[in-house]
Amino acid sequence: MKVAIPAAWLSLLLLAPGCKSTPEAPPGRQPAASRFDQGPGAHIPELARSLIRERMHLHGDDMNDLLWAVLFLDYDSMKAIAEDLASSPKFARPISNDDLNASIPPAFFELQDQLTAGAKRLAEEASNKDGAGVAAAFASISQSCVACHSLYLDEPKTDPLVQPELE
Ligand code: HEC
Repeated sequence: MKVAIPAAWLSLLLLAPGCKSTPEAPPGRQPAASRFDQGPGAHIPELARSLIRERMHLHGDDMNDLLWAVLFLDYDSMKAIAEDLASSPKFARPISNDDLNASIPPAFFELQDQLTAGAKRLAEEASNKDGAGVAAAFASISQSCVACHSLYLDEPKTDPLVQPELE
């Protein structure tokens, strides 16, 4: 392992000859475009959507900060961000059929729980300074974000509630 890392860096350098200035994006590569305003979006009513959207702005910022804290193995920061994410307010499961939340697909609430579980796990792994555990927990968090977005924007092709094997 000690030898493999410098060798990998070396091959990266060799693969980028003449790379003097900021590299240009490969042709056809565009900045990410949001589909949330144009997707079918049919699965969730407008009023619930605007509440969800507010929450999502915070999640977006957290995820960005979390990515860098995880990549740099900054355990203190990732623990604080993960704890924030885990304790953010949740949408309540519907109590009756005329409840606004009754029109939200049940998988939404499951994925919301999965996200919380992943965030708690990440906070724990960060406390133990366990890098591999952090990587698995971060994967689980990302899975919950993307699976729920897919539930909303697409007809998911695989069960959105099934988490990939992490260990
Ligand atoms: C339980 C479901 C669910 C989970 C989990 C989830 N999202 Fe979302 N997210 C949504 C829905 C639904 C929308 C679309 C809201 C709308 O209609 O604009 C959305 C939209 C967004 C948006 C776009 C907001 C906008 O202004 O258009 C961002 C950014 C976002 N989510 C980030 C995240 C991140 C990061 C995570 C994980 C940490 C995450 N989401 C987890 C359901 C979820």
